[in-house]
Amino acid sequence: MKILITGSEGQLGSELVNLLSKDNEVYGLSHKELDITDKNNVINTVSKIVPDIVIHCAAFVDADECETNIKTAFDVNTIGSGNVAIASKKTNSTMVYISTDYVFDGKKTSTYLESDIPNPISVYGISKYGGEQIVRHYLEKFFIVRTSWLYGKKVKNFVNIIINLAKDKKELKVVNDQVGSPTYVPDLARAISSLISTKYYGIYHITNSGECSWYEFAKKILKYAEIKNVKVTPISTEELNRPAPRPKYSVLKNFNLKKKKIYKMRNWELALRDFFKK
Ligand SMILES: NC(=O)c1ccc[n+]([C@@H]2O[C@H](COP(=O)([O-])OP(=O)(O)OC[C@H]3O[C@@H](n4cnc5c(N)ncnc54)[C@H](OP(=O)(O)O)[C@@H]3O)[C@@H](O)[C@H]2O)c1
Repeated sequence: MKILITGSEGQLGSELVNLLSKDNEVYGLSHKELDITDKNNVINTVSKIVPDIVIHCAAFVDADECETNIKTAFDVNTIGSGNVAIASKKTNSTMVYISTDYVFDGKKTSTYLESDIPNPISVYGISKYGGEQIVRHYLEKFFIVRTSWLYGKKVKNFVNIIINLAKDKKELKVVNDQVGSPTYVPDLARAISSLISTKYYGIYHITNSGECSWYEFAKKILKYAEIKNVKVTPISTEELNRPAPRPKYSVLKNFNLKKKKIYKMRNWELALRDFFKK
């Protein structure tokens, strides 16, 4: 297949470029090569390539930054995704839109299904949900993939932040009242690879299975990284006082992925152990 990937230098984009290049003709376009807010450029670029699939990984992902840079959040995450959807429609390409657990308000006490109604509570969440709606408005051939708490080789993620902080601190304070599912980027990339080989269009939750708080996640990171003598202290979201509100509970159930027997995601702890082994 001919596959175009936006945001190809990001965590997920770069992993997908590596994985999918083995069996497909892949066009990975970085932010510098294709700014998704430039509608004409998006349409021209997609029209030149005429991909079978467009995997749209580009996004403005810093939830705290989104609270102050509201215009950029909507320009990139909502309107920019609309540009990619319009371009995909013109070439009859299937579009994969990567979305987030932050489309939910976190008030549920059991796992979120694809059929649950989103109710985002942050600018980031609202702008990403806007992206979902614009994709659904323009296209019939789409996959919306909601995922959460991504980490992998790239440096800008929670796992690497904890490892770096542990180098010169004896105590780390980490929130214990937000629960979600850490997701290893290579696992997500493999699931997306299986998904796009089907025509079961629609919304999918794709995360590693199981759940934990950021505090529990930090403790396991130090354990598998074999870092001792660093104390992890649980604190509340209120104490941390970050600009963006975050869902308290945002565990996604991979219901559709399992029902359609597309891919089985392993438990988050197994994936984390694997990450450190590698
Ligand atoms: N990270 C998570 O924990 C998480 C959780 C749930 C869902 N997601 C979703 O998963 C997807 C991938 O996230 P990620 O972790 O791979 O993020 P990432 O590493 O920050 O990658 C996003 C990429 O998008 C690029 N980008 C930003 N603005 C752009 C624009 N206007 N035009 C083109 N490219 C632009 C960025 O380039 P620059 O860095 O050069 O700006 C970056 O390379 C996103 O849709 C995100 O919303 C992420």
